[in-house]
Amino acid sequence: MKILITGGAGFIGSNLAKRLVNEGHDIVVLDSLLRGNKLEKDTYSKVKFIKGDVRDLSLVTEASKNCDLIFHFAAVLGVDIVADNPVETMDVEVIGTRNVVEAAFVNNVKKIMYASTSGIYGHSAIENALTEEVLVDPRTSYAMAKRYNEIYLASHHEEKGLNVISLRFFNVYGKNQDNRMVVPRFFEQAISGEDITVFGSGNQTRDFTYIDDTVEACVQLMNVNGCHIVNIANEAEWCITELAQKIKSITESNSKITYLEAPKKRYDYEVERRVGSSEKLQKLTNFKPMTSLGEGLSMILEDNYKTQINYNEIG
Ligand SMILES: NC(=O)c1ccc[n+]([C@@H]2O[C@H](COP(=O)([O-])OP(=O)(O)OC[C@H]3O[C@@H](n4cnc5c(N)ncnc54)[C@H](O)[C@@H]3O)[C@@H](O)[C@H]2O)c1
Repeated sequence: MKILITGGAGFIGSNLAKRLVNEGHDIVVLDSLLRGNKLEKDTYSKVKFIKGDVRDLSLVTEASKNCDLIFHFAAVLGVDIVADNPVETMDVEVIGTRNVVEAAFVNNVKKIMYASTSGIYGHSAIENALTEEVLVDPRTSYAMAKRYNEIYLASHHEEKGLNVISLRFFNVYGKNQDNRMVVPRFFEQAISGEDITVFGSGNQTRDFTYIDDTVEACVQLMNVNGCHIVNIANEAEWCITELAQKIKSITESNSKITYLEAPKKRYDYEVERRVGSSEKLQKLTNFKPMTSLGEGLSMILEDNYKTQINYNEIG
């Protein structure tokens, strides 16, 4: 297949691009390199790379020519970055997605797979793992724009038959992630012997999903048509203190775990529980993310800190 990945130089996109080029697909990456380039040299040499902004309609149209599928992953993210840049966050989401849809129609692309987020669930009431049917509660500019795009994309399925999958990712972690996110930040603090800093009580839970499982779910869902919102979740709930303890332990660090008051405007830190059901993913694909947090963290230690990764130097 010929496939466009917007945001393909980012954490999830670069891992997906690596998998898809290795399977023989023809990959185009469109990325502004806002966060640098995470495509490894070997992958970079096999993709068509276009440096540019997803808000540029002519560029997205050019990039998606003759494509069978678009993975639309370009986004501004990170709790602090989103809180400080709400307009830019929404702008990239809303204009970017509108452009991807328009380009898909111009080029007769039949399917879009969109990176949504578990952040959409916000403070939704939770007794069991969150299913896709739960009433969502998006409050940040990021989560609101993601929910808007899910609905916008679904309307194009109903009206024009576009196949659309919105992937609600739950705290993806693994190789090539940068320290905007909690897992690599804790690793860096643990390895350098600094305090491991937890925002809030540390009792807030999240569902950490390993990157290889996330990529596998994306690949499996390439075979599913129609219009679906699908959780990509590990179904395992860990609190942030446990995450810090695990990272401290596997890095054999002497760092202290310390607690900082969560900044009031950072709504995401206040969500006490978040764990997702992967039942719908299993029904659609027979695949369930299975990598335990301990296994995933060990692989990060090996991949990111013990092996020299050969990134392509561009941008
Ligand atoms: N990592 C997670 O845990 C997680 C959780 C939920 C949802 N998501 C979603 O998954 C997608 C990928 O996330 P990621 O973790 O790989 O993040 P990332 O920041 O590593 O990747 C995003 C990429 O988008 C690019 N980008 C940003 N603005 C752009 C623009 N205007 N035009 C073109 N490119 C632009 C960046 O340069 C970056 O390479 C995003 O849509 C994100 O919202 C990620």
